[in-house]
Amino acid sequence: MSTIKSILHEARVFPPLPEFVEQANLASMEAYQALCTEAKKDYPGFWSKLAQKHILWHKPFTSVLNDSDPPFYKWFEDGELNISYNCLDRHLTSQPDKLAIIFEADDGKVSRCTYRELYQRVCQFANGLKALNIKKGDRIIIYLPMRIEAVVAMQACARIGAIHSVVFAGFSAKSLHERIVDAGAVTVITADEQTRGGKNYPLKATVDEALSMNGTDSVKSVIVYKHTGIDTPWQAGRDIGWNELTEDKQTDCEPEWINAEHPLFTLYTSGSTGKPKGVQHSSAGYLLGVMASMQWIFDYKPTDIFWCTADVGWITGHSYVTYGPLAMGATQVIFEGVPTYPDAGRFWKIIQDHKVTTFYTAPTAIRSLIKLGADLPGQYNLSSLRLLGSVGEPINPEAWMWYYSVVGQSRCPIVDTWWQTETGCHMIAPVPGAVPLKPGSCTFPLPGISAAVIDEAGHEVEQEKGGFLVIKQPFPSQIRTLWRDPERFKKTYFPQDIGGGHFYLAGDSAHRDNDGYFWIMGRIDDVLNVSGHRLGTMEIESALVANPLVAEAAVVGKPHEIKGEIIVAFIVLKERCPHGEQASEIADSLREWVGHEIGPIAKPEEIRFGDNLPKTRSGKIMRRLLRTLARGEEITQDTSTLENPAILEQLKQSIH
Ligand code: WTA
Repeated sequence: MSTIKSILHEARVFPPLPEFVEQANLASMEAYQALCTEAKKDYPGFWSKLAQKHILWHKPFTSVLNDSDPPFYKWFEDGELNISYNCLDRHLTSQPDKLAIIFEADDGKVSRCTYRELYQRVCQFANGLKALNIKKGDRIIIYLPMRIEAVVAMQACARIGAIHSVVFAGFSAKSLHERIVDAGAVTVITADEQTRGGKNYPLKATVDEALSMNGTDSVKSVIVYKHTGIDTPWQAGRDIGWNELTEDKQTDCEPEWINAEHPLFTLYTSGSTGKPKGVQHSSAGYLLGVMASMQWIFDYKPTDIFWCTADVGWITGHSYVTYGPLAMGATQVIFEGVPTYPDAGRFWKIIQDHKVTTFYTAPTAIRSLIKLGADLPGQYNLSSLRLLGSVGEPINPEAWMWYYSVVGQSRCPIVDTWWQTETGCHMIAPVPGAVPLKPGSCTFPLPGISAAVIDEAGHEVEQEKGGFLVIKQPFPSQIRTLWRDPERFKKTYFPQDIGGGHFYLAGDSAHRDNDGYFWIMGRIDDVLNVSGHRLGTMEIESALVANPLVAEAAVVGKPHEIKGEIIVAFIVLKERCPHGEQASEIADSLREWVGHEIGPIAKPEEIRFGDNLPKTRSGKIMRRLLRTLARGEEITQDTSTLENPAILEQLKQSIH
């Protein structure tokens, strides 16, 4: 790892603007560093103070960190609290009539819900769950559209101490089945259908199919929210309508006081091998992480209109839709639909209509919106925006520049937030009133987060050299274990062969530049070795995307006798997919371009054009499929999470 070369040098720097600094929660580098120093001096004391500041405790904790059985760390372990109480009840006296949620449906219909109303809906639903005899510690699968009901269902689970496991509503029956079985769920909460981009998709039918498979006997009830109102098959005794369940229920529900370490949820995420991993989070430590990051990174203000575009089926939706904004008492937008329906101006229109101040989305959305209408944001009034965020993958510097200048009108800082399902909240991200931004860098760790780049032996690598991204000290919001698989947890995240098993291994490679900024280079398994030079795929992709012709690019390695690996680039152009002579010419010009941007070593040997790239439904490029394609091998991997299977055929054909 120590020889990974970082060859893309980003020279642009954007210091915080005075207007932003004036109102910022943390308004200088000194303020940021003071917090970091405080954490270094007295680590438990630092977190203890924050946990008392942010969380309402039913029973105060006396123990901060128990690290007697690494890597199974416990935080605030003798404290008691309730997460839903911390998100809802706490606002009932201070701001009951403040809007908690502005919901915009796929068809544009808007509904609003105050903190009091949300509290009542959550309590009614929680009472409904209790009536079904659901108890603290029971697992509940949530398979719902991106609507207020999804938040209500999650909060209601938290209220009674049930452990939710949200499955993104785009997953197939097979994936859903796998998760139901692994969780040993007693209930599935779903809807008849979901609506996205003007089309309806079945959910209840998918649940029925999943439950018809083996090993699902644990499931005693299926709660069905009637969204589109179509007729669905009904299994008497098992299925129950959302309204039937809640209509006669009280609008108050005493919260179940749970221990700080009680699992709030599990969320399945794919590993590089094997079946999905049930990432298990705690209650108090997790909540503390999302609240502190709302404060530091999103610079949260009570006047904000916060909009995180992520679905609650992903960790980003858990932390920055369901829990973070509500715990802070924010008004947030929830959007059911897709960014391109009815047209590619939808996001910009939503920002304009609801006067969004904080907008948080993913690079894949940004790149596709550039492709579909780079000048569209200019047609909307985006003057309400004050902060932009990015998450999910490294943002290419060119996409960053567009986001900054066109969407943010060179006025709004961009917080490029590096974190993972396993970390629960932001880990490396700029404190926007303090840290000068560099396009493509997630900058510095949050206060108290001991991120580092190490080699196998566990030594920090020199600046400008790449290595393994780790977090050295345990932190409150981190994964507690993998559901029912502590051995896999240990092996995956605290492997003996990297750093001796002492550090949390993120699975990403990274480097720090001369100013100490962190740059994420991609997953460890995405690192290429070309003629003895190790190259991060991301850097080549960024160079390609910086070309005016290119909308999206993914780069993988293909074994090569002499060079070790050669670079294969899969490319989507802004214009139509090219063919024949024209395609070869463009391929040549792109090679020259990369050669110029990075160096001849990074020139892709093979270039393939497509109308799109194979992506998961959360928008991540499926590199393992691209690797198989590049090698010319038959695809034997599971493609059930693939959004657009037809694209594979096209990418097989066109080699230049
Ligand atoms: C990648 C999403 C670069 C990274 C919150 C990580 C990023 C994985 C960034 C986790 C970022 C996420 N810059 N890479 N700002 N954010 N990643 O679990 O490879 O869906 O390990 O969590 O996404 O993805 P996950």
